[in-house]
Amino acid sequence: MSRPRKRILGLVALLTAAYLLFSKEFTSGGIGLVTRNSNISHSESPASDHTDSGDVSYPKYTAGETTAQRLDLLKKLQDLEQQELHYQQSEDSRHKFRLQNTFAEQQSSEFAALENATFVTLARNSDLLGLMNTIRSVEDRFNNRYHYDWVFLNNEPFTEEFVKVSSSLVSGQARYGVIGLDHWSYPDWINRTAAAEVRNKMRNAGIIYGDSESYRHMCRYESGFFYHHPLMREYKYYWRVEPDTLLHCDIDYDVFKYMREEKKKYGFTIALREYISTIESLWDVTRQYLSHVPDALNSNSLLEFISDDYGVTYNLCHFWTNFEIADMDFWRAPPYQDYFDFLDKAGGFFYERWGDAPVHSIAASLFLDKKEIHFFDDIGYTHPPFTHCPMNPIERGLTCSCLPTQNFDWQSYSCTRQFYKAQNMPLPDNIPNA
Ligand SMILES: *[C@@H]1O[C@H](CO)[C@@H](O)[C@H](O)[C@H]1NC(C)=O
Ligand SMILES: *[C@@H]1O[C@H](CO)[C@@H](O)[C@H](O)[C@H]1NC(C)=O
Ligand SMILES: *[C@@H]1O[C@H](CO)[C@@H](O)[C@H](O)[C@H]1NC(C)=O
Repeated sequence: MSRPRKRILGLVALLTAAYLLFSKEFTSGGIGLVTRNSNISHSESPASDHTDSGDVSYPKYTAGETTAQRLDLLKKLQDLEQQELHYQQSEDSRHKFRLQNTFAEQQSSEFAALENATFVTLARNSDLLGLMNTIRSVEDRFNNRYHYDWVFLNNEPFTEEFVKVSSSLVSGQARYGVIGLDHWSYPDWINRTAAAEVRNKMRNAGIIYGDSESYRHMCRYESGFFYHHPLMREYKYYWRVEPDTLLHCDIDYDVFKYMREEKKKYGFTIALREYISTIESLWDVTRQYLSHVPDALNSNSLLEFISDDYGVTYNLCHFWTNFEIADMDFWRAPPYQDYFDFLDKAGGFFYERWGDAPVHSIAASLFLDKKEIHFFDDIGYTHPPFTHCPMNPIERGLTCSCLPTQNFDWQSYSCTRQFYKAQNMPLPDNIPNA
């Protein structure tokens, strides 16, 4: 049935129902609004009271009609009315949805397809379970208003299930890439026997992931290769997301736009100390690199964040890279790319267990202007076992599902305090100086 016709029928039904309801009380003259071809109650009683205007006046109900008949008819009319109403409502809501969507599309295209940015997640197929709530929280807290793409990378092909589930949760375009063997294997200058001996030693020493080969490939990949993946090369900014992490606060602005407009190149939420046994020679090798390329050191660097003695020793502070919002063009160019190649040749990703966190953090602290490094204090974040929860969230108008008492920032193992000092930022109220 066509919509206009349904509408008319609905109107008729409504009016008829009203008439039937009130006809007992208002018996004089009838209601002259019903159109001539309306037939709903004609059969029930003889037509009468034709007026000269040609309108059909409704007959009064006579004693011959039973209450049951009238109730039955009334019910039919009401059903009809309900149907029409329901039909109209769902049409209306579909229409509204379309309008809103079109508006959102217009908005996002007005924003020049937003920023040149993507989420990126390095994951195994077995990480899916730990990733679902993570994606949901990123979408709910941020991305459902922006719809940025999400790149998933894996050293083996993703399963159909992984793709189906994860893409159903991402509001932007979900993209899936396999990592080439050249970025996930031993370079030819690494002596694998020696590397295996190290893993054995570290296992016996109980060093976390010390015996893992894949963890080493992962750290090397995140240090020197992810930004070269063909999918990632299309973007400038990325937000790294790992399984089992959660966002706690609504983020009501575009963090990528913030990065671009404020000329930020590296953003973090949690900073802490590294295990010295995993990076014993990293600082020496870094100093060797700097002695070859002294100009690489930025004249306004954040050196004080990573060293308490102007660069003689490394204080083990690093940004926790399971969360990163950063500019890949920094990683892609010298000095970083040269620095990574230098580290890679030195072999510490395999002969020790260098993590991408100290590598990224040392590089950002040495090569960037300290103004280019941003603490995303307003982003509540958990990677077990640590949480960053903004201070005074309610006073700041943040809606967070975490408590400031959960905050790791000011505990002794954290390096947030070193960051504030290196940036000459005053510590928040109530935070003691030491
Ligand atoms: C009105 O009712 C009569 C008798 O039931 C039927 O023949 C006729 O087709 C109906 N007219 C309309 C417009 O529904
Ligand atoms: C590789 O390492 C093993 C164990 O440390 C050593 O015995 C061997 O000589 C090394 N091979 C080369 C070619 O250096
Ligand atoms: C996005 O950034 C990458 C890296 O800087 C660049 O190659 C690419 O052209 C940019 N794309 C757009 C649409 O600006």
